[in-house]
Amino acid sequence: MDESAWGALQRAATKALAHAYAPYSGFAVGAAIQTKSGAVFTGCNVENASYGATICAERAAMAAAVAAGERELVALAISSKAKRPTPPCGICRQCLAELAPSLSIRSYAGSTHAQYNLSSLLPDAFGPNHLG
Ligand code: THU
Repeated sequence: MDESAWGALQRAATKALAHAYAPYSGFAVGAAIQTKSGAVFTGCNVENASYGATICAERAAMAAAVAAGERELVALAISSKAKRPTPPCGICRQCLAELAPSLSIRSYAGSTHAQYNLSSLLPDAFGPNHLG
């Protein structure tokens, strides 16, 4: 991923952020995933009155990619209005590791970003290979 590709992914994530449904936490998140074909899939968090039913932005973006027949995830951009970049939550780490255990991730907040690799965020992940 070069800088211009990251820039496009950041813009896609920030566009999705505007659609976040977060009436309970007030914490809006947008996400954009680029797949191997070059396509970009977006998601936002979708909260629920039954709080535990909330879907995070990252998982929503992953589901959109899979629903379009794309499973080779190359990069993920996360966008929020937080003071500092937010890493993906534990549930999202596990979900993303199913398809892309070494996914390249950037999280953007204001003019700053943090960069992660999923293999560092979720070392020794349980995955399909453990099922035998
Ligand atoms: N959230 C995400 O969408 N992604 C994350 O990685 C962290 C948390 C959402 C879930 C909930 O709607 C709100 O942010 C506060 O936790």
